[in-house]
Amino acid sequence: MPKPIIVSGIKPTGTLNIGGYLGAVKNWIALQNSEKYEQYIFIADLHALTTATSATRLRAESNKLAADLMACGLDAKKTCLFVQSHIPEHAELAWIFNCVTPISELKRMTQFKDKSQKQEKNINAGLLMYPILQAADILLYKAANVPVGQDQVQHVELTRDIAHWFNRRYGDYFPETKALLTEIPKVMGLTEPTKKMSKSDGNADNVIELTDEPSVIEKKIKRAVTATAGGGQTPGVENLLTLLKQFGSATTHKKFWDAEKDGSIRYGDLKQALANALANYFADFRTKRAELLANPKKLENILAEGASQARAVAQKTMTDVRKIVGIR
Ligand code: TRP
Repeated sequence: MPKPIIVSGIKPTGTLNIGGYLGAVKNWIALQNSEKYEQYIFIADLHALTTATSATRLRAESNKLAADLMACGLDAKKTCLFVQSHIPEHAELAWIFNCVTPISELKRMTQFKDKSQKQEKNINAGLLMYPILQAADILLYKAANVPVGQDQVQHVELTRDIAHWFNRRYGDYFPETKALLTEIPKVMGLTEPTKKMSKSDGNADNVIELTDEPSVIEKKIKRAVTATAGGGQTPGVENLLTLLKQFGSATTHKKFWDAEKDGSIRYGDLKQALANALANYFADFRTKRAELLANPKKLENILAEGASQARAVAQKTMTDVRKIVGIR
């Protein structure tokens, strides 16, 4: 029996923080290590073009992200890891999907509505077509499952619809794809614990990056908000405990959890324990990442190898699709 196929992607915009790590990367590594799936993970650099960046920056961020993923434990021998733009079939299939997808469906997408409202200036057509390219990413490999966070479920549902519209017009070809949701802990900002951890407001202290050195982690955690007027368990404390649960030992977490319950907790101690746990958890990551980035040729080779594996599959699908739709 062939293993079910899994596809997921991540945009090379900015650095990887612990929210993104828990939300996606950690899960991909667990799926990889379960050995139950054939897994394709890619850097979605074509999707990143919907936000304007310089060529130098985009290329550098794609490489860094690939190094980040491998340093986290994604193993190119077990997971097919590649860069989306290495494989022109993604864009080609997206064009064909453009022609079976009603515009009205694209305009309803939450992410499009959000982005086009926030980003007044650069509302390019790519933002609207974004989920079509995503459907092409997924269906090129005929994925059964797409491990993503809640925010991407709508895009995976649209992928199913697109497969359906294609199949209705041309006959059954693409499979039904499902989102593979895992329980993802909600990681909130350190200085703004009522909002998702993100650097978008320009406040670097709000976010722990995977690359943060222990001294930086400590400094940021110390600045994390704990108290609010009114008392009781505050969102800030709740968030620190969530993080300790994810990154620390079970005993340490229990100790602080109990102390919080009986009111004997000292937030300074909690912060120190969490800073230590984080520094520890990502120690190996920092070393591996530095090694990978010190050897760009090797990194390039790994990605070229991933691309050639993925491309063989993508080309096969496109050969079928060209025939099915009547193009050369
Ligand atoms: N849109 C996804 C995100 O922003 C990234 C992505 C692009 C993706 N293509 C994909 C995820 C295909 C899963 C499958 O997170």
